[in-house]
Amino acid sequence: MKEIIGVIGAGTMGSGIAQVAAQFGHEVILVDANADQLDRAKSSLEKTLTKLVEKEKISAAEKIEISSKIRYATDLNELTFANLVIEAIVEDITIKHTVFKTLELIVADDCILASNTSSLSIASIGSVLNNASRVVGIHFFNPAPLMPLVEIIPAVQTTEETLTKSVELIKSWKKTVVVCKDTPGFIVNRVARPFYGEALRIYDEGIADFATIDWAMTHIGGFKMGPFTLMDYIGNDVNYAVTESVFQAFYYDPRFKPSFTQKRHREAGFLGRKSGRGYYNYAEGSILPTPTEDMELGTKIFNRILCMLINEAFDAVFMQVAKAEDVDLAMTKGVNYPKGLLQWAKEIGYDKVLEQMEALFAEYGEDRYRPNPLLRRFARG
Ligand SMILES: NC(=O)c1ccc[n+]([C@@H]2O[C@H](COP(=O)([O-])OP(=O)(O)OC[C@H]3O[C@@H](n4cnc5c(N)ncnc54)[C@H](O)[C@@H]3O)[C@@H](O)[C@H]2O)c1
Repeated sequence: MKEIIGVIGAGTMGSGIAQVAAQFGHEVILVDANADQLDRAKSSLEKTLTKLVEKEKISAAEKIEISSKIRYATDLNELTFANLVIEAIVEDITIKHTVFKTLELIVADDCILASNTSSLSIASIGSVLNNASRVVGIHFFNPAPLMPLVEIIPAVQTTEETLTKSVELIKSWKKTVVVCKDTPGFIVNRVARPFYGEALRIYDEGIADFATIDWAMTHIGGFKMGPFTLMDYIGNDVNYAVTESVFQAFYYDPRFKPSFTQKRHREAGFLGRKSGRGYYNYAEGSILPTPTEDMELGTKIFNRILCMLINEAFDAVFMQVAKAEDVDLAMTKGVNYPKGLLQWAKEIGYDKVLEQMEALFAEYGEDRYRPNPLLRRFARG
């Protein structure tokens, strides 16, 4: 008998998670406080499934079967028989606390209570529960049906049994699971920070413009999208909020310091594609700027950002956030990096990466550029 899955929040993430669970044969109850949102989620799922039928990814019968698995509700009481509930509501700790407290009174004692939060601590979410041993972070990436990675985060209160059951269940949905410590940004949103932050810093120093930095990272680095194109795609409001929250959560460690350039873009409403203008102008008829295709400059930019990313990946391993192989899996499966960062460092040579970090540290004298001790150890061989 398949587990019954409850999903709270029928927005971007919740509706995607509900789709995945239904595709893997679970009965799903999708709850949202807003009935209109449930209608939107339902019609958007219908459209998605129709497209899958057209592309012959699923049959017409499977479409009917998947649709029939999801029940839509505005009342949390519908979750009485759920075995796992994944919360994907607004990123607000007070609202999440209210929902978790209510939820605990509704579900069975052995129901796992998970949050899809990107930036809040799982320990804090679980703190309102009488039995917090069943709280866990289950962090999907957007769009949930397509992105293979799921980070699973045990809180200090979580039991081994809760963790094992969660890992097994999410693996049965054919997802790549990485387990990580309950620390700000988990793996991906922590390790990826320099991709944006160092690119902005390079721009702020006047070394190159947006288009040239993007060209360096895609053309020389092999990344699918340059940092500015990607920030415009994510939205400068969303990306800035994550950076700021990671910076604050790390007690203002300068490695994660946000950029005024991004803040000003956000303040000006230059949010990216969704507002028609971000670092680039997306208005009809506007032409994207051409990069300065200077290999020497481009290589310098790429090496600087890559070394900062590698240093951050080493820090995640050094601080036991996750195993080295999981950090590499997370970056390749969660954000499509062309290679795992630790593997990349091995190919370049750990000593070469360290040399670059030391050069940056010597040049700037800022703690932001301090080489990680584990990178030093690897470089010593
Ligand atoms: N959007 C992303 O790329 C992304 C990726 C990973 C994780 N997350 C996390 O997932 C969660 C949801 O994000 P999203 O982008 O899907 O948000 P969203 O705004 O698209 O959807 C949130 C939904 O929650 C509903 N809601 C709000 N309060 C509620 C309540 N008290 N009870 C029931 N429903 C309620 C809203 O009506 C809305 O439909 C957040 O914690 C976010 O940090 C988001």
